Amino acid sequence: MKRTLIAAAALCAAALAHAADPVKIGFLVKQAEEPWFQDEWRYAEVAAKEKGFTLVKIGIPNGEKTMAAIDNLAAQKAQGFVICAPDVKLGKAIERAAKRNNLKVVSVDDRLLDGSGKPIESIPHMGISGYQIGKQVGEGIIAEIKARKWNMAEVGAIRVAYDQLPTGKERTTGAIDALKAGGFPAANIIDAPQAKTDTENAFNAANIALTKNARFKHWVAVGLNDEAVLGAVRAAEGRGIKADSMIGIGIGGAKAAENELNKPQPTGFFGTVMISAKEHGYQTSVNLYNWITGKATPPAEVLTKGMLMTRANQAEVRKAMGQ
Ligand code: GLA
Repeated sequence: MKRTLIAAAALCAAALAHAADPVKIGFLVKQAEEPWFQDEWRYAEVAAKEKGFTLVKIGIPNGEKTMAAIDNLAAQKAQGFVICAPDVKLGKAIERAAKRNNLKVVSVDDRLLDGSGKPIESIPHMGISGYQIGKQVGEGIIAEIKARKWNMAEVGAIRVAYDQLPTGKERTTGAIDALKAGGFPAANIIDAPQAKTDTENAFNAANIALTKNARFKHWVAVGLNDEAVLGAVRAAEGRGIKADSMIGIGIGGAKAAENELNKPQPTGFFGTVMISAKEHGYQTSVNLYNWITGKATPPAEVLTKGMLMTRANQAEVRKAMGQ
């Protein structure tokens, strides 16, 4: 009896000590060099200041670094982390590492998959509504093709593709479906698979597509993010295809797009569907904080919206998105 009491008291003390531990949250992103992820970190910092927790930002470009980062967080006595993994197939390994270290985990941007390729439902997720946002890209391109009175038969479309990432595939599928629904000839759509989701790899992929399809007079380009479309725009420029014969619409709206849309001369980067780094960075961190402190469990899945932003409406869109 006495022993049980002592054990119970010790357990209580441990629980109390744990509850009193300062909250520390990791924010792990696959491409720390990408402006989108820097924005997410920036807004996560806002949440940290507001709620009074410590934020640990770690870049995780590969699986090894991901596992090391999780162990490192546990050693630092963090209680949880937000993650955009370098490969969604690491899902189960991430889940196991989090459990082993008693860390809560929520995913952002890229939904983690289990061994059979299904989303891991037990990990709360915030991502963009990929197909819908892709459709906004395609619709924006169709409207601009019409405004320029191009003959669609003479226009090629590059889909910079990264289909191993489900949200990437959803986005470009939405874009292509909207192009087709707008009367764009399916035969003029060219897939350009990229090896990684950055500008350099998109450039290389688009360059091959352009070289093989020199018959088109004009071009349009879609991809899973701004970097993908920028790669296509730069590759087109390299072949003399400039703003008047190229319509690229990205997804993102962070620094890369901002720089492009504010160059004195327009480029082939016509616009982007702006998405909310604020919601993804701030709200995921707050949700995790509330979970750790026992205030609320995060919603199982939140899909955020975007708005088409061009040179013409940048200020309004940024204002409407609160960024
Ligand atoms: C993926 C992309 C990023 C960004 C986010 C937004 O992670 O790789 O560039 O678009 O989605 O959710």
